[in-house]
Amino acid sequence: MNIQNLQTELVGKNPRVILKAALAQFDNIAISFSGAEDVVLIDLALNIRKDIHVFCLDTGRLHPETYRFIEQVRKHYGIEIEVLSPNHELLDDFVKEKGLFSFYEDGHSQCCGIRKVEPLRRKLAKVDAWITGQRKDQSVDTRADIPEVQIDGAFSTPEHTLVKFNPLLNWTSAQVWDYIEAYQVPYNPLHQHGFTSIGCEPCTRPVLPNQHERVGRWWWEDNAKKECGLHATNVKK
Ligand code: ADX
Ligand code: SF4
Repeated sequence: MNIQNLQTELVGKNPRVILKAALAQFDNIAISFSGAEDVVLIDLALNIRKDIHVFCLDTGRLHPETYRFIEQVRKHYGIEIEVLSPNHELLDDFVKEKGLFSFYEDGHSQCCGIRKVEPLRRKLAKVDAWITGQRKDQSVDTRADIPEVQIDGAFSTPEHTLVKFNPLLNWTSAQVWDYIEAYQVPYNPLHQHGFTSIGCEPCTRPVLPNQHERVGRWWWEDNAKKECGLHATNVKK
């Protein structure tokens, strides 16, 4: 299948159409669920196909509310959620050397590399395509140009081409929340406490009304670098 042709077909389409195409084109495809408002991907996908495959990257540093929410979603929809842990040897060595909060001193990339990117790489080596909840409105600096479907330039290898779908890309945050309300989708209670974007507990803080949602993520770093390596190709060189 030619991904460029598929992209031309899907450009500007709504999330359901993009998800339907993704699930029709690939059997071995997984939804990457962060435990935040990307829960709408799960709700939408289950209306298309019951045997969806969902995974979360458990960094070990998520908020207690997020762990409980992941469990709530598992029970609510009656689905399996694969919860992936970091490689313990890499993590043990890293924490021994640098402690538990080194990201405040020398940036988030090493910790995210071990806690998120390495487990994601392991997972993505076993699927043909993945589905994310990225949206253009999440960041003018890094997400304004994401396509509906793309070859994943960060996780494909010479032996294994990986395809990445971003079905929510054209929805605004308000559209996501309209969907959550209209279809009574369960949501992470942190959203009621000023958290618009939710990542790991030490690296996420609430934002004030009308502040941009990613202002509360890695707030001590520059906006253009606010990608943790999951979506590394978004960062302009
Ligand atoms: S991040 O790269 O800054 O952490 P963000 O929180 O905006 O990402 O989420 C964008 C999408 O990345 C999510 O909708 C989800 O598909 C994926 N993602 C982010 N964090 C995780 C996680 N911990 N587990 C699984 N998927 C995740
Ligand atoms: Fe580590 Fe923070 Fe990245 Fe989580 S978001 S993996 S705690 S640097």
